[in-house]
Amino acid sequence: MKQQQPSIEQTIPILDFGSQYVQLIARRVREAGVRALLVRPDISLEELKAMNPVGLILSGGPSSVYEAGAPRCDPDIFKLDIPVLGICYGMQIAAELLGGRVQPGQAGEYGATHLAVESRSSTAALAADLFAGVPEQTTVWMSHGDQVRDLGPDFIPLASTPVCPLAAMRHKNKPFFGVQFHPEVTHTPHGVKILENFLYRVCRAAGTWQMGNFVDSAVVKIRGQVGGGRVVCGLSGGVDSAVAAALLHRAVGDQLTCIFVDNGLLRKNERENVESTFRDHFRIDLRVVDAADEFLTALAGVTEPQQKRMIIGKAFIDVFKRASKDIPDAGFLAQGTLYPDVIESGHGYARTAANIKLHHNVGGLPAELGFELVEPLRDLFKDEVRRLGEVLGLPDAMVWRHPFPGPGLAVRIIGDITREKLDLLRRADEIFLEELTAAGLYRTTAQTFAVLLPVQSVAVMGDGRSYKPVIGLRSVDSTDFMTADWSRLPYDVLARTSGRIVNEIRGVSRVVYDITSKPPGTIEWE
Ligand code: XMP
Repeated sequence: MKQQQPSIEQTIPILDFGSQYVQLIARRVREAGVRALLVRPDISLEELKAMNPVGLILSGGPSSVYEAGAPRCDPDIFKLDIPVLGICYGMQIAAELLGGRVQPGQAGEYGATHLAVESRSSTAALAADLFAGVPEQTTVWMSHGDQVRDLGPDFIPLASTPVCPLAAMRHKNKPFFGVQFHPEVTHTPHGVKILENFLYRVCRAAGTWQMGNFVDSAVVKIRGQVGGGRVVCGLSGGVDSAVAAALLHRAVGDQLTCIFVDNGLLRKNERENVESTFRDHFRIDLRVVDAADEFLTALAGVTEPQQKRMIIGKAFIDVFKRASKDIPDAGFLAQGTLYPDVIESGHGYARTAANIKLHHNVGGLPAELGFELVEPLRDLFKDEVRRLGEVLGLPDAMVWRHPFPGPGLAVRIIGDITREKLDLLRRADEIFLEELTAAGLYRTTAQTFAVLLPVQSVAVMGDGRSYKPVIGLRSVDSTDFMTADWSRLPYDVLARTSGRIVNEIRGVSRVVYDITSKPPGTIEWE
């Protein structure tokens, strides 16, 4: 008899037909309390069944269902006996596979539009499963050229817009629904309600995807994998590795050893914060390797950014290898890999290698180290990792820390790197962050830092003229770091920062603020 797997959380697989909103659908489902996973549209029925699906969502996508080569799914997913919600392209493909017809609309429909939900008594009850709690007249967000023109014999219409008479549908006797609009975007004001209706009224989900529950099931899973083995976890100071370490510690206690490499390229107090959190607070066996000399010697005289990255990446691997050799019997390596990393490396449908920023692998570890990987955050998005960090009791400053690049301050000193330049930049950076935090703006900006420019400028200090370097300030707003805009920081925050930098740090003549968006300017200067 096949063994039951009671520990698998109820899941909503989302067939990813390439919608730009597909991650948003997964987020909304998770926020509503159900685990969601993005899967290829041509996933096999066996793979789907193994996920313990309580329902399926078919995402939107840029193709036309009637075109050759358009992504399709196995029509037998409709025989799995689980509810299905098709969104946009997902509604169209469901209609097409089940006897309806899709054609280009008379006009496209992009943006907010008015939706009238079926209110005739004969169908209102059928609409209620999806639209309970949603006004009969409401606003939804549309983005489509094609539309379902004929529902076929098995579906009935549930809602319409001025341009799209068949804007929502349901099967007459099975729990299959389709919406032409996008309930997952915030511009559909009752979109969350519609998704919740699907999850709870239609799929009857248990709603157990909560961080407290996640901790319990992750602990069981980690113990199952690791047994009595010894686990090594590299801490970077960032939130992902910190949360992975705290979770591992919860699961295996003193079988965990953490390694933190001080490469001499860190921000002010970075090392001390890691030490006080992990050694003093969690009482984790933390090995701090002071490798600043090794990194700075290898970097001496190097000015080319990619070369800096390569040197730092290689030195990190060397140092980590040596440090982990000192931990006898270590068989497992814990890493803070997140769900978006997993999707980007080809599991989802529309993610392509072009999206992956290869330089982000700097600071990664090669497979030849010979460890078995433990990746307890593989299922989580960044905001879920932060929530988990809070549940595990990590300090706010660590949970909400801005990302910091693996090569650290080395890519924020334009030109060659010396200890003096590092000290100067560290101080300027600290002042900027202090002022930002004091103004309550740390959490509203995505990344904020100082850069040391290889430019000297004239300043008059006291009675004398001096000729000293320039500090650049960079602060950006961004959600995915692929695009970013410069933060509109209040002038008085900039003024206080600049005033303090030129007064408190000898050797800075001038402070400038970077007002370049990405693209074209990258977030980092190198
Ligand atoms: P860019 O400069 O490409 O940065 O706009 C986007 C995001 O990536 C971070 N970044 C790096 N992270 N190693 C890293 O671990 C690197 O070499 C690296 N370069 C940039 C950057 O800080 C921003 O969050």
